[in-house]
Amino acid sequence: PVPTSRLRELPKVELHVHIEGTLEPELVLELARDAGIALPYRDADTLRGRYVFADLQSFLDIYYENLGVLRRRHDFARLAYQYASRAHAGGVVHAEVFFDPQAHRSRGVAVADVVAGLVEGFDRAFGEFGFTTELIACFLRDRPVAEALETLDELTACRAAIVGVGLDSAEVGHPASLFTEVFARAADLGLRRVAHAGEEGGPDSVRAAIDHLGVERVDHGIRSVDDPDLVAELVARQMPLTVCPLSNVRLQAVADLAVHPLPDLIAAGVLVTINSDDPAYFGGYADDNFAVVADAFALDDPALAALADNSVTASFLPDARKAELR
Ligand code: ADE
Ligand code: ZN
Repeated sequence: PVPTSRLRELPKVELHVHIEGTLEPELVLELARDAGIALPYRDADTLRGRYVFADLQSFLDIYYENLGVLRRRHDFARLAYQYASRAHAGGVVHAEVFFDPQAHRSRGVAVADVVAGLVEGFDRAFGEFGFTTELIACFLRDRPVAEALETLDELTACRAAIVGVGLDSAEVGHPASLFTEVFARAADLGLRRVAHAGEEGGPDSVRAAIDHLGVERVDHGIRSVDDPDLVAELVARQMPLTVCPLSNVRLQAVADLAVHPLPDLIAAGVLVTINSDDPAYFGGYADDNFAVVADAFALDDPALAALADNSVTASFLPDARKAELR
């Protein structure tokens, strides 16, 4: 195995992490205790023991349930700072972080408070150890389109400091094309666009995100391998995929890491990046994801450096900062 110290030293950019998915069981318990919320388990390990998933939906059920402990602006600040600290320790220098505004406003937490808390936590991380971030607001594809439009209006009204918008939650049965107007409006506002596709859905789902939403990156996108023409198109356009190996294993999007399409995508010339998705649930942060793929596919140092370099290329960082990171 590649020594983890070397993987940590490799400057990496994280492009696929849900801040709500960095909510560690210990923090769930602490926030619940502080807020006087009763939980059905007494300790963090009991909660962690429930993290056995059959598919995306079985994970999403627990993910949405747990985020009920995030209520105040300060809770989001703690969450953001804790993620930044852990990511930084693993060699991540910049992260473009997803959050799910609808999952909070539906519980009565103002979008402005969510954003203000995240910004507070990330500002502290920047001040203390120079960790930089951008925020990407994701729309929940299994909720009504009208709700996404209202949420975009709220983000605009509070001048939320976001670089772009994304699309997440249950993929199958909730086509990207439904969100064409939402993404067109986001583009008019000058926002960058990404979307989850090809995680549980097939190549058509990836095509829909590209054709209807105009995305600049595809989150996951692993099922693209089932369509050679699509793979050729991804290569021709240098369309980045934000791949999350541990997530794919834990959500059974792949049977086993050994049969993960990552090596095929790399060999085809796709601009692949390695990311953590929901590290508190899937057993590892960005450095851990690098470590498992290095091990499973015997990737040497140049191959790992190329993956880290891809994450810089695929980021929304200005060219000057990209050059500094190379
Ligand atoms: N929300 C949080 N993690 C997700 C994932 N892996 N896929 C879709 N929606 C998500
Ligand atoms: Zn995700």
